[in-house]
Amino acid sequence: MVKVKTKFYCTECGYESPKWYGKCPGCGSWNTMVEETEKVVKTQGLTSGLFHTKEKPLPIINIESGQEPRIQTGIGELNRVLGGGIVPGSLILVGGDPGIGKSTLLLQTSHEMAKAGLRVLYISGEESTRQTKLRAERLGALSPDLYVLCESAMDGIEEAIDQVKPDFLVIDSIQTVYLPEVTSAPGSVSQVRECTARFMRISKGQGIATVLVGHVTKEGAIAGPRMLEHMVDSVLYFEGERHHSYRLLRAVKNRFGSTNEIGIFEMNEAGLAEVANPSELFLSERPLGVAGSTVVASMEGTRPMLVELQALIASTQFPSPRRMATGVDHHRMNLIIAVLEKRMGMFLQNQDAYVNLAGGVKLDEPAVDLAIAVSIASSFRDLPTKPFDVFFGEVGLTGEVRAVSRAEQRVKEAAKLGFKRVILPEKSMKGWKGPKEIQLIGVNTVADALAVALD
Ligand SMILES: Nc1ncnc2c1ncn2[C@@H]1O[C@H](COP(=O)(O)OP(=O)(O)O)[C@@H](O)[C@H]1O
Ligand SMILES: [Mg+2]
Repeated sequence: MVKVKTKFYCTECGYESPKWYGKCPGCGSWNTMVEETEKVVKTQGLTSGLFHTKEKPLPIINIESGQEPRIQTGIGELNRVLGGGIVPGSLILVGGDPGIGKSTLLLQTSHEMAKAGLRVLYISGEESTRQTKLRAERLGALSPDLYVLCESAMDGIEEAIDQVKPDFLVIDSIQTVYLPEVTSAPGSVSQVRECTARFMRISKGQGIATVLVGHVTKEGAIAGPRMLEHMVDSVLYFEGERHHSYRLLRAVKNRFGSTNEIGIFEMNEAGLAEVANPSELFLSERPLGVAGSTVVASMEGTRPMLVELQALIASTQFPSPRRMATGVDHHRMNLIIAVLEKRMGMFLQNQDAYVNLAGGVKLDEPAVDLAIAVSIASSFRDLPTKPFDVFFGEVGLTGEVRAVSRAEQRVKEAAKLGFKRVILPEKSMKGWKGPKEIQLIGVNTVADALAVALD
């Protein structure tokens, strides 16, 4: 008889305990302990003592450095998000809703890497090899150096790795992999944790760049303990609106680059196509010369992006009006509404306010403030904005417009797309000159900006 033990794990931090708690003693979150039964077979070095490199401490000046070598994935947007390509031996976690296109992205990446002469092993625990082949045919991802295996037992996967000796490994998905030593079900906290630890050892030990696909929970976090995110080198999220064809890839953690960059793709019949010029995409359905619509020049990492921002102000009978923001921070929206009420004398207390960024993009930098203010004022007064104006600037509590970074790049992008005027913080105009085909209007207050935009 094997002794079956019941344990409780925190899905946030991985805290382990023999009894249930409402509040995790490890991280203090509520209602995160889940029960798992497991047959405990002690094997050495599952998570503990992962590497012992037998190296001695060195003075830092004697350590060889040089740039991390990078493997170009053949997919520019992915390289951008990773900070210039995949670092050999790194472990990357890719999360996203079901059906968003994770398998598609990774199969295409695998194909591109195989085409470039690397050995690639794609392991699917969710789809049969035939299904994967069908998908690969649709995506045009057939190359002789791309090996596919349908397997979910860790032993089988390790055997395949020994056979193929890949440079690039994809595990689709980490929730389907299981270690027989850990008897809880695949996808459970302990399985996911131990299997990830194994893959970490494999990827670091053998220098294999490894991508783990992870499912997300209803709350949008990668299923399994939060700890997973600490174990891997990079965490990427693939997201998008169900009803739109484009997808955003963003890094929430990256040990080898910044987390500011986003990658933009469009999903179509032949797979994911890279979107090299996102501004065009996000402005493509813009109505011209209507009240409530403005264009904001924003930065996503090092890339400028123009996005349409819409506001709708409608009177309401209810004592507490609705305030809804999609794509922008709703606290910023409330703050800007307060500024418009107090400084501009707009009576918005009996008005519902909706603010929406087109195309499902999210912008969280304060430079969108000015566009929010102008859109709301434009809709409230029912005055159309000029179709060839672009806005950016942070709004302060006294109604002042504050400087933001990288003004020159934002203006250049606006000029490239044929806009005629940019309304920007006057303080951001020092020390550079914009292209001459575009007019720059520096403003110091929201009132100045409205006078220009809605005259
Ligand atoms: N025959 C097809 N033609 C066009 N698009 C398809 C086809 N089959 C699947 N797709 C697209 O691919 C998506 C599934 O992507 P997939 O990579 O399997 O997602 P994930 O691995 O994240 O669950 C579907 O939502 C659909 O948009
Ligand atoms: Mg999939």
